[in-house]
Amino acid sequence: MKLFIDTANVEHIRDIASLGILDGVTTNPTLIAKEGRDFKTVLNEITSLVDGPISGEVISDDAQGMIKEGRDIAKMHPNMVVKIPMTKEGLKAVSTLANENIKTNVTLVFSANQALFAARAGATYVSPFVGRLEDTLHDGIEVIRDIRDILDLYELDTQIISASIRTPQQLFRSAQAGAHIATVPYAVFEKAFKHPLTDKGIDAFKADWEEAFGKSK
Ligand code: G3P
Repeated sequence: MKLFIDTANVEHIRDIASLGILDGVTTNPTLIAKEGRDFKTVLNEITSLVDGPISGEVISDDAQGMIKEGRDIAKMHPNMVVKIPMTKEGLKAVSTLANENIKTNVTLVFSANQALFAARAGATYVSPFVGRLEDTLHDGIEVIRDIRDILDLYELDTQIISASIRTPQQLFRSAQAGAHIATVPYAVFEKAFKHPLTDKGIDAFKADWEEAFGKSK
């Protein structure tokens, strides 16, 4: 499973990219607003940091508006992906942009039927929101598994981005359920790196070394 970071914070992107584990970036209007910076400036900066798919989201409600915004986003850089909400207007925009070879990521997906419609419209990616499903006591991971089954059964090329991930367990379970990609918030990356036995082991190795050879400079 590939790893994207779900943020518009360039410092966080730089940090995870430096580890060599980052395949792409997703943003949304909330994440861009949180940074308080201009949409295009932020996305341009991100394209210089990560050589992989970078999702920028449209804010129009109607297909024509989404198509116009989508074309503008796509023009910014060859790695840009147009993120479009899962509505009927959104699907019209996806099919038009797909015919122009513009990559799309259909977002706010909460069911396998929505994912199937997005895939049939020509979406490059679908983003089921695991965390928001599980917030309402639905099994988000089962939705990932169902979508993967359908995509495989009908040999559809659309890739699943497991989104709205809140915990390291949702990250692991997304991989296990067959998501092609997980988009992970910085805070979840930070938690998932750690294990108390790793820290304990490092402390013990260091203490044993220093007892035998003294402190290194
Ligand atoms: O990529 C979608 C994701 O950003 C939504 O996350 O935490 O707002 O549900 P969240």
